[in-house]
Amino acid sequence: MSNPLPFVDLKSQYAALKRSIDARIQRVLDHGQYIMGPEVGELEAKLADYVGARHCITVASGTEALLIGLMAIGLQPADEVITTPFTFAATAEMIVLLGGVPVFVDIEPDTCNIDASLIEAAITPRTRAIMPVSLYGQCADMDAINAVAARHGLPVIEDAAQSFGASYRARKSCNLSTFGCTSFFPSKPLGCYGDGGAIFTSDDALAQACREIRVHGQSARYTHTRVGVGGRMDTLQCAIVLAKLERFEWELQRRHELGARYQALLDGAALELLQVRADRDCVWAQFTVSVDHRDAVQQALRDASVPTAVHYPRALHRQPAYATDAFGPLPSAERAAGRVLSLPMSADLSELDQDRIVQALRRAVDGA
Ligand SMILES: Cc1ncc(COP(=O)(O)O)c(C=O)c1O
Repeated sequence: MSNPLPFVDLKSQYAALKRSIDARIQRVLDHGQYIMGPEVGELEAKLADYVGARHCITVASGTEALLIGLMAIGLQPADEVITTPFTFAATAEMIVLLGGVPVFVDIEPDTCNIDASLIEAAITPRTRAIMPVSLYGQCADMDAINAVAARHGLPVIEDAAQSFGASYRARKSCNLSTFGCTSFFPSKPLGCYGDGGAIFTSDDALAQACREIRVHGQSARYTHTRVGVGGRMDTLQCAIVLAKLERFEWELQRRHELGARYQALLDGAALELLQVRADRDCVWAQFTVSVDHRDAVQQALRDASVPTAVHYPRALHRQPAYATDAFGPLPSAERAAGRVLSLPMSADLSELDQDRIVQALRRAVDGA
């Protein structure tokens, strides 16, 4: 392949939305309210409406959303939070940052999401919350997780950094549990041009706690009712997301089409495809396959100018900062970490380029 492809095509997206994005940015420059300007409330209202939650609280990043959610439920040192070992580090990192203990439960091998059937056995008197991740853009089995949580009186925080826009049993990701926390990192399904994120909840008291924690625990100006953080999302980033919402439904549609097309074109190839459960969809934040000899496959694709990425090369209980043998081996997470490979994916990926990627991948897995 001659022309290098982008892994995520943000340039074509900007070209398509240039007029709206530029106008939205100009409006902020004109009014000058860079922090908590009118676009912040406008975006929060639109996103809450979109996912069907009562409240949306925009925050500085997806990481901050997880931190603020955990602070809002009052996580204390030594409290345990059940989560997946196969995720971006931020999920466990925020638990540890607050002095909590991540309790890793293995994943389903075919979706790479936490295996809900293993959660109940991991609950102890110190368990304070359950934090599933809707990995690659497909929701974890949230109803099964909510049922376990309800039996034990635990809140559920969905790490929905990769799944904004995804549906689960006719409901939207971010509105499936106590909290939904998403990220507007530029390459996410709905991204800004820097860092940003949001917390969703339909619990009024928790929403109020998140709003206060976001601004240093203030319940009124200079009244610090609780300990918080400086966790706001700035007005310019909110303005950019507002402009991107204009074609978000089209983008989701394209992601569904391209995901289904990848699956059809790769059917029968010497690799494993992620399974999408019948009661939900996947917004393909990453289009990830599972291959033998990943290094060789990745090199062959690099030689063919196809960029790839590995989400994620090590399960978290094998990372130095979180290393523990407390849970024994977590075989599905460890196997996935050695095999997963993400291919270029974005709404603006052309079918011609997708055909070339598939040809290069088929050649690579046959030759590996
Ligand atoms: C599963 C998961 N959780 C949390 C985050 C953190 O989001 P952010 O980069 O916006 O802080 C990410 C981002 O990559 C993620 O993929």
